[in-house]
Amino acid sequence: MAAAGCGGDDGPPPEIGCPGDPVRQPPGLDPALEARVDAVMAAMTLDDKLGQLSGFGAPVNELWVAAENERLGLPGFHMIDGPRGVYAGKSTCFPVGMARGATFDPALEREVGEAIALEAAGKGADVILAPTINVLRHPAWGRAQETYGEDTHHLGVMGSAFVDGAQRHVVATVKHFAANSIEDTRFDVSVEIEERPLREVYLPHFAKVVREAKVGAVMSAYNKVNGVYAGEHRFLLRDVLKDEWDFPGMVMSDWVFGTRSAAPAVNAGLDLEMPARIEFARLGDAVASCELTRSVLDDAVRRVVRTQLRFGLDARPPVDPSVVESPAHAALALKVARQSIVLLRNQGGALPLAATGSGPIAVVGALAGVANLGDEGSSEVNPSRAVTPLDGLRTRFGADQVVHVDGDVLDEAGRDQVAAARAAIVVVGLTSRDEGENFPDRGGDRDTLALSAAHQTLIGAVAAANPHTIVVVEGGSAILTSPWIEDVEAVLMAWYPGQEGGTAIAEIIAGDVNPSGRLPISFPVAEADLPPFDHVSLSVPYGLLHGYRWLDRNDTAPAFPFGFGLSYGTVEYETVTLASTALTPAGEVQATVTIRGVDRTGAEVVQLYVEPPPIAIERAVRDLRAFARVAVTPGQTTTATLTFPVADLARFDASSRTWVVDPGTYTVAVGRDARDLPLRATFTVAP
Ligand code: BGC
Repeated sequence: MAAAGCGGDDGPPPEIGCPGDPVRQPPGLDPALEARVDAVMAAMTLDDKLGQLSGFGAPVNELWVAAENERLGLPGFHMIDGPRGVYAGKSTCFPVGMARGATFDPALEREVGEAIALEAAGKGADVILAPTINVLRHPAWGRAQETYGEDTHHLGVMGSAFVDGAQRHVVATVKHFAANSIEDTRFDVSVEIEERPLREVYLPHFAKVVREAKVGAVMSAYNKVNGVYAGEHRFLLRDVLKDEWDFPGMVMSDWVFGTRSAAPAVNAGLDLEMPARIEFARLGDAVASCELTRSVLDDAVRRVVRTQLRFGLDARPPVDPSVVESPAHAALALKVARQSIVLLRNQGGALPLAATGSGPIAVVGALAGVANLGDEGSSEVNPSRAVTPLDGLRTRFGADQVVHVDGDVLDEAGRDQVAAARAAIVVVGLTSRDEGENFPDRGGDRDTLALSAAHQTLIGAVAAANPHTIVVVEGGSAILTSPWIEDVEAVLMAWYPGQEGGTAIAEIIAGDVNPSGRLPISFPVAEADLPPFDHVSLSVPYGLLHGYRWLDRNDTAPAFPFGFGLSYGTVEYETVTLASTALTPAGEVQATVTIRGVDRTGAEVVQLYVEPPPIAIERAVRDLRAFARVAVTPGQTTTATLTFPVADLARFDASSRTWVVDPGTYTVAVGRDARDLPLRATFTVAP
């Protein structure tokens, strides 16, 4: 049914649509794989092709199905969420993405990606809808917990590690492309952003996951970017993702409201409408009217077929379901929780708490007795068992050594118990009611970064009754610690620590584990210190700076800087040496850093920031360019080598629309966090 006026007929089969201009194919495709794709495509009818481009509707056995075609031998996709474990039946619940971001440990994140993928495969899935790598522009974002943090470089490293591990077993789906960091208005908000911040802040980590980790699928976001829905955004999907980054895989929509049109969406670069054929029901008409040409249709179909064959989904041996909730995965969840918890305050060495002492330990608050696992939206995971902080503390210190003062109001009897204890541990924070995916009865963005009034009052009452008060805070992102922090001796940020979280909390409090988590986001003193967070307006401007870059630019001291975290021991930063101090834009910066453990075995996250030469164009004061988590041994010097390409220092020049590495002198600043950078060195970049 080639329509008149749509051009000549130059390719089989002639009955499908109008030829149209050829669509650019990414370089470096595997010829053998493409030949197999060609063979499948040659046997396809129009219905077969359209069948590849939409999901099949309601989930089957908890899996979202798409693209199956028995006649053609196409296995299709069987998809499952999500970011902290598998959203189907019972499965291992890992600490949330933000907690895993706090490990600064990509090797460990690779293991988490692999474990989640294996469990997904054990449940019959071949695609996971993870990882979430959106920039945490503001900590009030309801879905903050799913992502890894506020820094583009760190997001790219952690997201790539997850994908690398996951794609040993399934197709990973990096989401949500792009600039998705407001929840309440997610279906309609337009992020108003110039090309430079978009390219420098909101896209590079997606580029890394595409180019380096070779992610199989990208999920477009719900929101608009500069007035155009992300699911039909030609600049994002076709110009940047497919043509500039040479992405050979498929772009799927976010669920239901992520697809807003038929032909315009496919023309813009959306390949697969999920979870059901709603908008794409009109694609047949669009083909008949030449609104969708054969070349564009075939390119979309080809990507969907290619992804099935690239990952060998047609020849996958079934995965033994016993991998689900295996002891090894529980052990991994525990290891991650241990590394993710951040010690924010430890006055007078209050922690670790001695194993025995006079009087019991009072464990206070309703959350102490709850396994607080995080969001109950698409990232929900239901493990068969989960260790609460109270369970963990009872196991570690002995049930007879622990009294639980339940509830979030301290009555007189409770106050007496707290006063008689040798220390009080108060568990406070947020739950899925306060933040998460937006549902009428739960989740959504936060209206405030403060703890609830009830929790602040509880902390005050406990601290008044017992001078040795330790606060364990749970939540997906930054929480204001002022003014209550001054009243307590120690504070741990535990995030949503996963099914083994209670054990990890107790081990850290007891000193069996030396805390090594570092904040992957800035904790401000006050909300007004950050850029405004608007989860009401349908048009919200995004600029170049947020998080630590915003605080640095305004010379505002954070409560706790990006990268911050205490340990029980002391680590000295000794030297930084650059392999070369005169570089070209094609070169590589290589910094060798030595640190010295003083008194305790532990781990340190060595962070390297770069300050650009002064130029007339606004830039961040400094940007994280590399980090390394290294083991620390008392009395020993440890060496970390950190490298990155000079090209990473480029800024996007808006007028020439090219990446430019400014010549001049750059300063490398190395240390413990974005505000504690004792080691410095400089290098020059020649024009
Ligand atoms: C979420 C996605 C999720 C999808 C499927 C959407 O509402 O935004 O992150 O993967 O649902 O559950």
